[in-house]
Amino acid sequence: MNNMHVLFFLLLVGPTFSLNYLVFCPLYAHSHHKFLAKIADTLSDAGHNVTFFAPIILRKYENVKYLDSTKDIVYLQPSKKLESLGYSADYSKFWSEDATAIQFVPAIKAFTRMFQQLYEDLKEDLSVLNELKTRNFDALVFEFLCPTAFPIAEYLGVKALLPSLSMTHHPLMSRLIGEPSSPAILPSMISSFGDDMSFSERLQNTIGDIFFTLFVHYPPMTSFGDHSKLIDFEDMTVRSPFMFMNANPYLDYPRPLLTKSVLIGGISVNATHMKQEKLSDKYNEILKKKEKNVLISFGSMIFSKDMPLAYKETIVKVIESFPDVNFIWKYEEEDVSFAKNLSNLHFSKWVPQTALLADSRLSAFITHAGLGSVTELSYMGKPAVLVPIFADQLRNSKTLARHNGSITLSKYDLSDFDKLKNAVYSILTEKRFKDSAELLAQQLSDQPISPQTLLVKHAEFAAKYGELPNLDPCSRQMSFISFYMIDIIVFISAIVIVTLGVLLIVVRWTSRFFVHLKYKSE
Ligand SMILES: *[C@@H]1O[C@H](CO)[C@@H](O)[C@H](O)[C@H]1NC(C)=O
Ligand SMILES: *[C@@H]1O[C@H](CO)[C@@H](O)[C@H](O)[C@H]1NC(C)=O
Ligand SMILES: *[C@@H]1O[C@H](CO)[C@@H](O)[C@H](O)[C@H]1NC(C)=O
Ligand SMILES: *[C@@H]1O[C@H](CO)[C@@H](O)[C@H](O)[C@H]1NC(C)=O
Repeated sequence: MNNMHVLFFLLLVGPTFSLNYLVFCPLYAHSHHKFLAKIADTLSDAGHNVTFFAPIILRKYENVKYLDSTKDIVYLQPSKKLESLGYSADYSKFWSEDATAIQFVPAIKAFTRMFQQLYEDLKEDLSVLNELKTRNFDALVFEFLCPTAFPIAEYLGVKALLPSLSMTHHPLMSRLIGEPSSPAILPSMISSFGDDMSFSERLQNTIGDIFFTLFVHYPPMTSFGDHSKLIDFEDMTVRSPFMFMNANPYLDYPRPLLTKSVLIGGISVNATHMKQEKLSDKYNEILKKKEKNVLISFGSMIFSKDMPLAYKETIVKVIESFPDVNFIWKYEEEDVSFAKNLSNLHFSKWVPQTALLADSRLSAFITHAGLGSVTELSYMGKPAVLVPIFADQLRNSKTLARHNGSITLSKYDLSDFDKLKNAVYSILTEKRFKDSAELLAQQLSDQPISPQTLLVKHAEFAAKYGELPNLDPCSRQMSFISFYMIDIIVFISAIVIVTLGVLLIVVRWTSRFFVHLKYKSE
């Protein structure tokens, strides 16, 4: 066959490979929504039929558009009860408080109540699920954090479940599928620990792990079709062929993984697209004025406007000390009277972050180290000053620090003029940061298999074969004692001790015997 024939053949068989995917995405937070939308679009771009089932929980997300090529969106209006439970946490206190895992328990409980109510609502009125059932989905993509997906999968009779995570990892998910996940090597999702934990960090991580295992649970749910049948979350997770996680192996810490864990971090970043984005005249004017430009943004979960006045004043003083550098600050309020009308400081309630990061005139990024921002700046090779505020941001900043292209400051350093000024000075003047950041960006763009390809190939394989018991390790069912070789260590130690003991007795006995003989012969 010549090339033309191959192409024609591919075009002919293409549509028969078109598979039906359901992506289940309750609307309650940006990062989760964005990640699942990207998965949906990537599958749509690969020629598959994708339905995006988006029950609304928080009204403010109703009109947020993250989908592009996926056209089949099924919205579900919230019941009065669900709407009243819709929980949007206020994290502004974390500007000046430490964030411990315990402080997240109320938020986790609130999310659990929301997901349970969504389950009750669907159970009350099965019409939308009945309609979805007629479409015979081959696979369901959902976020592992939302247990409502499990009864939906059971009711629709979907043969392949694809639990996903908009975060880098989830110790419980790893443990369920039998992946090495002891608290000695895998920090909890909301801790600040990296992969190299000290004794006290491992101890805290272990206690946190026990605490979460004991107190944080999915609420019990029964089958939509048979109210006496309890949904077995663990069993359904174990039988899922693959899990998609928002970690990138070239950026994140290396760790032992099963074939089931597919790392698709970076899927939200299309570097080509970012570099083609056009900046508005406003930003072109700003970037043109000075040789160096810095972007300051603390993301959309926690606002610059809420930071303590002392931080704002220090930032302004530092900016004032760099008259030859332009600063663009994402700041959510009109009133910027604290800023002394500096000519090299430009405020904006919204900034075209990706386009700015992709612009060669931008020299550095001062950021809160949210996962999205860290991934974007890594792909664009920008040196950064990271000021993690809470949650996974502390971990993200450590992850990126390993690549030598960034400087990490504590949020409390935002009131320390010298520290902040030195960090900005180093990041702008020392070439090693830029070189390291660019090396990482090149590696990310050259990674052997792109996150998009990983997603599509695994999702297709899952839809074709459903459950994959051949990927289920036996070690998953081993007891703690046998997995950690405690029985073997005890057994071998016992043999060694007994043998040494026997030897000792024999030596003593024979030496006494010879002493006795010698004594007799004298
Ligand atoms: C995909 O959707 C199209 C249009 O809705 C439909 O004609 C086609 O049969 C669907 N494909 C599959 C595999 O269900
Ligand atoms: C990335 O963006 C470019 C330009 O917009 C587009 O041609 C390409 O298909 C995109 N790639 C992916 C994997 O979506
Ligand atoms: C800043 O500039 C505005 C208008 O240009 C002016 O009204 C205001 O008084 C100035 N504020 C300070 C603190 O200089
Ligand atoms: C970062 O720098 C350290 C010290 O120079 C070096 O050992 C390490 O390999 C570097 N990391 C990367 C990812 O290049």
